[in-house]
Amino acid sequence: MNTVPEPTFVEGQHHPGQEYLYARLDGHVIIPYVRSRHMEYPYRVDGAIAVVTGAAQGLGLGITERLAENGATVLMADVQDEAADREAERLRSQGLNVHSEHLDITDSASVTEFFSKVAADQDCIDILVNNAGVGQKVTPTVSLPDEEWNRVIGVTLTGTFYCCRAAGGIMEKQESGSIVNISSINGQNPAALVVAYNVAKEGIISLTRTLALELAAYGIRVNAVCPGPVYTAFNRSNMAQRGKTLDLTEDQMVERIRSAIPLGRWGEPDDIANGVAFLCSPAASWITGEVLRVSGGMEGVAAAPPRRTSAP
Ligand SMILES: NC(=O)c1ccc[n+]([C@@H]2O[C@H](COP(=O)([O-])OP(=O)(O)OC[C@H]3O[C@@H](n4cnc5c(N)ncnc54)[C@H](O)[C@@H]3O)[C@@H](O)[C@H]2O)c1
Repeated sequence: MNTVPEPTFVEGQHHPGQEYLYARLDGHVIIPYVRSRHMEYPYRVDGAIAVVTGAAQGLGLGITERLAENGATVLMADVQDEAADREAERLRSQGLNVHSEHLDITDSASVTEFFSKVAADQDCIDILVNNAGVGQKVTPTVSLPDEEWNRVIGVTLTGTFYCCRAAGGIMEKQESGSIVNISSINGQNPAALVVAYNVAKEGIISLTRTLALELAAYGIRVNAVCPGPVYTAFNRSNMAQRGKTLDLTEDQMVERIRSAIPLGRWGEPDDIANGVAFLCSPAASWITGEVLRVSGGMEGVAAAPPRRTSAP
């Protein structure tokens, strides 16, 4: 199976109280690269009750870990019960305050019930990170089936709306809270062949900015993070499909993306989690309606595909 090349770590310069590492990729490129075990946790949210959707793996799992390391109690809400239970157990064994919960964000009534129960059990909801989302099968827009459009919009955009509506209402009553919605660089710069995903992610930016205006009077902040490429299960499937459309192997596709990232490496869940933790923390207390791109400088994957040799 294909993997993003593992960087080798070399010791970098030392500053009082902090240690920086640099990754050496391709034998010669030196790139700033800080791994979580070497980090201090500056974005404290001690005692906060946080919900992270899609937390059983990938970015959601990284975000869960980082918020818990910063002092939050985190409820990991996902449809994958077994994986969420297993990861919650693992994080608890590291002393973190984390619990797994079943939630399908596409089920409107269940979402409302879920957040009401969290508010009743925990007394409040301080942080919501809407991370759950699904990628689209790489397909030309002119032949995209209804079911695929509806599936992607249903989970990624409508599901995020359901969670924002339910938790936003509770936060409005308690007059506090912070919501971070996970969009994508595709939400700012659409990529070819994934129209439903692009529309869902751009919709999330609009949802974020609308809600930020409506909830500002109640002291609630609503922001979005636009991740660039991180090699999760989501992207493994995407890279293989995209490579096929360009007659490239998955390895070649992974390298092509890497070389287009100004900071010269794929992202890690930690990179995205750090952006989210900052926006959730008091360090961002005068930031709302903001869209934070965390992408190693990549603005989007804007290449136009060649003409098809067969009918779509
Ligand atoms: N990985 C990337 O490069 C990348 C880049 C930009 C944006 N994103 C976005 O970040 C988020 C996380 O991406 P990832 O790479 O970790 O994906 P992933 O596929 O590895 O994980 C997504 C998680 O969401 C859960 N989920 C799916 N449908 C759900 C539902 N209906 N209800 C509750 N949970 C559900 C899955 O079970 C899974 O645990 C997604 O919104 C994705 O669009 C990812």
